[in-house]
Amino acid sequence: MSLRGDYSRAAADFSVEQDWNSYASAEHALFRRLFERQSKLVPRYACPEWITAIAGLDVGGGIPEFHEISKKLRAKTGWEIVAVPGLIPDEAFFTHLAGRRFPVTVWLRTPEEFDYIVEPDVFHDFFGHVPLLFDPVYADHLHEYGKGGLKAMRLDAVKMLARLYWYTIEFGLMKTSDGIRAYGAGLISSGGELAYCVTDSNPRRLDFELEKALRTDYQIDRYQTTYFVIDSFAQLLRGTAPDFTPIYARLRSLPPLQA
Ligand code: PHE
Ligand code: CO
Repeated sequence: MSLRGDYSRAAADFSVEQDWNSYASAEHALFRRLFERQSKLVPRYACPEWITAIAGLDVGGGIPEFHEISKKLRAKTGWEIVAVPGLIPDEAFFTHLAGRRFPVTVWLRTPEEFDYIVEPDVFHDFFGHVPLLFDPVYADHLHEYGKGGLKAMRLDAVKMLARLYWYTIEFGLMKTSDGIRAYGAGLISSGGELAYCVTDSNPRRLDFELEKALRTDYQIDRYQTTYFVIDSFAQLLRGTAPDFTPIYARLRSLPPLQA
């Protein structure tokens, strides 16, 4: 596939055709290897909502057909997948989320990137993000986040809101009856950080605090030094429901916190 970074074929909303038949068998095989490695880790380290959702999806044999998954998603929570060529501009991204469409990158990493990739690819987006869209509370939260993103653009507060996304949707931890588990997609799709974030004694694991998450800078090129831990998706939905306008106004004059 030569679609990596190819935005020339994208529509105005940055969506593309998945063109599932054009994936090479080597790409399906690589996806399978990534899937199998992660599948050994998730029973011990991923949150129960993710584990429940993946069990109901017949995937793992190769790169999934998005429209097949979308059919199931629409029936369960009203979400669907939209194929994109890679990272897309904030406004397009937030507009998709606000319409209950989750953008999933069409291309797969190269074999050399098996352990580490800087940009999101179809494995990260699909394995990490999509299963949680089957959870009704998480699904509603991400919808609210999308609407909140469009609002943050008007208030020039996207940088703060992006930190919240980082510390929840990408790298969030959750307390469960079996101990700490990961729900962040960056963790669930990571070969190394998934066990690290749950078991290593070095990183800080702070109880989730909205304002602290909005203020804390993050590092994209190493394991996180700070994680925020929620009690449940209901807590996340409730805790992010208040109007952020006065919060943005107040935090704007404060210095960011170090990761
Ligand atoms: N409540 C936020 C606002 O008023 C929107 C939001 C919801 C942001 C959920 C993040 C997550 O701006
Ligand atoms: Co992601």
